[in-house]
Amino acid sequence: QKLKINLEQIEKNGYDHFMLKEIYEQPDAITDTYRGRMLVDQGIVRMAGVDDNISKFLNARRILIVACGTSWHAGLVAEYIFEDFARIPVEVEYASEFRYRNPVIYRDDVVIAISQSGETADTMAAIKLAKEKGAFVFGVCNVVGSSISRETHAGAYTHAGPEIGVASTKAFTTQITVLSLIALKLAKEKGTISNSDFHLYLRELELIPNKIKEALQSNEHITDVARKYKDASNFLYLGRGFNFPVALEGALKLKEISYIHAEGYPAAEMKHGPIALIDEMMPVVVIATRKGHYEKVISNIQEIKSRKGKIIGIVTKGDKEVRELADYVIEVPETVEAFTPLLTTIPLQLLSYHIALMLDKNVDQPRNLAKSVTVE
Ligand code: G6P
Repeated sequence: QKLKINLEQIEKNGYDHFMLKEIYEQPDAITDTYRGRMLVDQGIVRMAGVDDNISKFLNARRILIVACGTSWHAGLVAEYIFEDFARIPVEVEYASEFRYRNPVIYRDDVVIAISQSGETADTMAAIKLAKEKGAFVFGVCNVVGSSISRETHAGAYTHAGPEIGVASTKAFTTQITVLSLIALKLAKEKGTISNSDFHLYLRELELIPNKIKEALQSNEHITDVARKYKDASNFLYLGRGFNFPVALEGALKLKEISYIHAEGYPAAEMKHGPIALIDEMMPVVVIATRKGHYEKVISNIQEIKSRKGKIIGIVTKGDKEVRELADYVIEVPETVEAFTPLLTTIPLQLLSYHIALMLDKNVDQPRNLAKSVTVE
């Protein structure tokens, strides 16, 4: 028993929990994800799994993404990125629904299965179905040699290193990184983005690890925000565009480890339901970075404020407008809109971590949840 505790402490590398360690590992994890694949100066993205099957990707009628949980959220971010960069229609499916729905799958569809563990039963079943229907199936997994990485026709590993905390953190941001690289590569091959934009995006992606380091510096401030709202019974998370899936992911993180009910919503959908819930007891986390429907998000914030909701804004560094309206703001550095999820996710991970900790919950092993779900 003693030995086990010591080993665990060594593995935690000075952090109190695996989740916190994994949150802080994200700058290095993302660097490991793009290392050797993204040659910024030469303007090259190379990934064997994509290069070897490039015609399949370039001729794809659609991309179907299948995944569960946090990986499904990464798929949703990827949908925005693929459609924006490479102009390929994308559908993102819960693997569990896809497998039982008698889905339409064409031989010229590319199916991308995303899975940290590479063992999720529903995702595995979705892959088998897609293969039976003749589609090309590409895996984005973290665990090397996992079942999904073996079952797919080709794939790309995220190289995030072991993720032990049940609540996924670095797997999510590295999945987005891999999928961004693929989207950029296809966009370049298809000529759907200009050369100068392609170079700009590569340079921006290269800067993300340092910008995450900067975002992590808000940790103490986020602890204050956590202390203020830890006793709320409900949270709402809102975002638009690329950051809509981040709102879903932020809410999932809070649910998973603090057991506080939280819902993520596209900000503009608020008026079709959740707005009825808003009162002075309701903290609303709004992702309001300066890029991406900023003015529209501001008007959503005003609607929350006029109903006395408490506003926690995730904003671009130096932001003034949201600061005036919000109860708290948490800053992240500026980047291109498509990559903002890699930064806006960070404070949401930390917020859920601190709230769970203050509520004395088991951060790394929340009740009823498993790291990999190998049964239906
Ligand atoms: C479980 C985990 C989640 C994860 C999901 C999908 O529910 O607790 O963190 O996102 O499975 O797992 P996968 O390994 O396929 O990404």
